[in-house]
Amino acid sequence: MSYRIGVISGDGIGPEIVAEARKVLDCIGTKYGHTFEYEEILMGGCSIDATGVPLTDEAIAQAKASDAVLMGSIGGNTATSPWYQLEPGLRPEAGLLKLRKSLNLFANLRPAYLYEELKEACPLREDIIGDGFDMMIMRELTGGLYFGERRTEEKDGVITATDTLTYNENEIRRIAARGFDIARKRRRKVTSVDKANVLDSSRLWRKIVEEVAKDYPDVSYEHMLVDNCAMQLVKDPKQFDVILTENMFGDILSDEASMVTGSIGMLSSASLNDTRFGLYEPSGGSAPDIAGKGIANPIATVLSAAMLLRYSLDLDTEADAVEAAVKQVLKDGYRTIDIMPQKAAGASSVKRVGTKEMGDLIVERIEKR
Ligand code: IPM
Ligand code: MG
Repeated sequence: MSYRIGVISGDGIGPEIVAEARKVLDCIGTKYGHTFEYEEILMGGCSIDATGVPLTDEAIAQAKASDAVLMGSIGGNTATSPWYQLEPGLRPEAGLLKLRKSLNLFANLRPAYLYEELKEACPLREDIIGDGFDMMIMRELTGGLYFGERRTEEKDGVITATDTLTYNENEIRRIAARGFDIARKRRRKVTSVDKANVLDSSRLWRKIVEEVAKDYPDVSYEHMLVDNCAMQLVKDPKQFDVILTENMFGDILSDEASMVTGSIGMLSSASLNDTRFGLYEPSGGSAPDIAGKGIANPIATVLSAAMLLRYSLDLDTEADAVEAAVKQVLKDGYRTIDIMPQKAAGASSVKRVGTKEMGDLIVERIEKR
């Protein structure tokens, strides 16, 4: 089969890590008889430099015409980059938010899994790590604070800024159903995270989640307040299977979850709508401080490409092959700097590699299978 893959390389380390994921996809294509046709789509700072805006209508149309989009990362140093002198709606991140909204990508899946081989990179105590953990964060992606009405105004000589957090019941219902669907394919447990002791939007969230839960009697569920969840993620991450939550809470908790698995450089993500289309990107940012140095970890992007194969193209065997190859590379002791062991034990048995080498090592292992 032939597939059209939109590619948003973006800014910072984006182009470097996307190049490795493409290498992996090409290897899968050769091995399993698929053709991937890539189309480069401009978004973020590079789009601002080329067109004056972070996302053009043409870029949205290109994304829509693809079977799926693979993305690296966008944005720059918010303190020093000229992109952040622009008004908020013209900054790099506005492009990503516009793309999510335009394509109705309301369901953001962020798996956080502790690889056996990376236990030494995990900052948690051994007794907390136990035999590891494996959770899926299901983050709502097109509502809440990110898309509510906002304004900054001066009243009686005092500047006041306002952001609003709005959800309607339908938006909550569709993401909750996705969360329970995913839980069914995993360990059948949903933790719905909110701030229902304070927020109206969270009280509605809770009510709708309870309604949806009735359709999934085989899945257990609980409610958890977001501050408690932040604590539980470091105290006892094993308890979580699917974490279902709104946009902003999911943004924060997924960064936290990635760090307890060792590194944000390992965390992939998929943003899905009601069709098979999806946008696949590592959960990490553009890391401008290490851009161009060839040291960024491409694994999150490679694993995002595996999610693309699985969710948008229905190629489970191929996705399994990519994930197995990543596992094997880690088992063989190869590490980018972000996943080098922090604890002294085992430090001598691992080999440090750069971005390209890591991509090559993964490709080699797919070829050998
Ligand atoms: C993420 C990022 C984005 C977000 C930024 C770049 C707007 O942090 O995907 O988690 O907040 O959603
Ligand atoms: Mg984030």
